[in-house]
Amino acid sequence: MLAAIRSAAVVGIDAYDVTVEVDAAQGLPQWIIVGLPVGAVKESRERVGAAIVNSGFVLPPRRITVNLAPADVRKEGSAFDLPIALGILVATGQLDPSTVENRIFVGELSLDGAVRNIRGSLSVARHVGRAWPGAVLVVPPANHVEAGRVSNISLAAPVTLRELVLQLRGDDLMVGRPKELHAAPRVYEVDFSDVVGQESAKRALEVAAAGSHNLILIGPPGAGKTMLARRLPTILPDLSEEEALEVIAIHSVAGVLSEDITLGARPFRAPHHSISGAGLIGGGSSPRPGEVSLAHNGVLFLDEMLEFPRGVLDGLRQPLEDATVVIARAAMSVSFPARFTLVGATNPCPCGRAGEPGRKCSCGPGEVAKYAARMSGPLADRIDMHVSVGAVALRDLSADAGVGDGSAVMRERVGNARCVQRARYRALRSVTCNAHVPGRWLDRHTPIDSEARTLLHSAATALELSARAYHRVLKVARTIADLANDERIAAKHVAEALRYRPSARK
Ligand SMILES: Nc1ncnc2c1ncn2[C@@H]1O[C@H](COP(=O)(O)OP(=O)(O)O)[C@@H](O)[C@H]1O
Ligand SMILES: [Mg+2]
Ligand SMILES: [Zn+2]
Repeated sequence: MLAAIRSAAVVGIDAYDVTVEVDAAQGLPQWIIVGLPVGAVKESRERVGAAIVNSGFVLPPRRITVNLAPADVRKEGSAFDLPIALGILVATGQLDPSTVENRIFVGELSLDGAVRNIRGSLSVARHVGRAWPGAVLVVPPANHVEAGRVSNISLAAPVTLRELVLQLRGDDLMVGRPKELHAAPRVYEVDFSDVVGQESAKRALEVAAAGSHNLILIGPPGAGKTMLARRLPTILPDLSEEEALEVIAIHSVAGVLSEDITLGARPFRAPHHSISGAGLIGGGSSPRPGEVSLAHNGVLFLDEMLEFPRGVLDGLRQPLEDATVVIARAAMSVSFPARFTLVGATNPCPCGRAGEPGRKCSCGPGEVAKYAARMSGPLADRIDMHVSVGAVALRDLSADAGVGDGSAVMRERVGNARCVQRARYRALRSVTCNAHVPGRWLDRHTPIDSEARTLLHSAATALELSARAYHRVLKVARTIADLANDERIAAKHVAEALRYRPSARK
């Protein structure tokens, strides 16, 4: 008898319908899986066979053929274990075919028949919600909460194969939503009120947060660059529901989903400079998202940025431009979203003292320039804000002198500026803040004082700004005006934005 069980495959962060067809024929006992299975799928026969027997069912000596249809979608991972097992039970007369109708199954099986977690269950749930409203999605218990982020589907999360089959046989599949998650207001262990002084660096981070601009902090060791960057998440607004779902889907597919992210936290990724190109951008024979995608809708923090190999850093140019990463493989190409705010931190030179008033740089001639050249021009050009951070004097630190605004106050200003931006970009698809708006659109539509325009044009000539750099200055100026709740960009906003350009740095 031929059995057909509905399931789904995840490619990138999208899911596709897959039908698991199982035929159990008389003949030499053997087992074949066809339909582009790769990696763990090929081993499912071992797990499924043991799971069926150890759950108290029978695996008769038959010629078993499993076909994963359609054959042109690559099938990866272990999520087909469960539908394959059910297919065998149907094909061998141990389960009535009507019991699996209008139900979609994903799950790995352990040898003892427990249903184990899979990657990408949110992607599957979103797909089922769109394509099969009214169907029941059966997921592993460990994925119940994740899949439950999609509210318009019915879910079942059996603990074992045996439990599931008994429920199906008795026509009482236990369908239920996971316990509601109430995201508590986010609390951070760090706060900008921990920082003494550094008002101009804090201001720059506030501007970056408000417009989602890329930024690099440059200064000597101990100046507080890492400390400042790590406080950026505390002033960013909460993710929208749609943004949170994208983030969860990516982290789930990568197999690194944490409780924080499931609850909707904004990603803050800080990979070490020993990371490989594939680790940063994504890759592998079965493509996995890299750090740029794990940072989607959040922050990618590259501490000691010039210690990253130049080739690895240059890989950032494409995702910075396109907000997505395409990983091409012979069999297919997969794309992952990658829209992140880049925050870098670096010493100005190998010894760290270049440009410090009252201190002497011990680097050889040319060494400082060589160090800076570790970042290519095109990459530097894509970083809107270059910010010098000097060390706060020791006596000020110990006196706790001059602690300015804390995170709550800064976050409120950022939130207001984001509101203004959302309203402005209502009509533009997938644009919510200044960093993401096409430069030409802004140039044409935003009101700007003639004095500001003159300043911008003369600076563009003097600094030899590329068209891209010109638009980037305009976008930062727009954010600065939004923070001030000014509808028009004024000369003072442009002047501040220009101070953040690299060539204006001393
Ligand atoms: N402005 C500051 N306010 C409070 N503490 C500071 C400040 N600057 C530096 N520190 C202290 O110095 C430590 C080192 O700072 P860090 O952020 O690691 O510097 P950097 O990354 O620039 O080398 C911090 O953990 C913090 O304790
Ligand atoms: Mg540091
Ligand atoms: Zn030096």
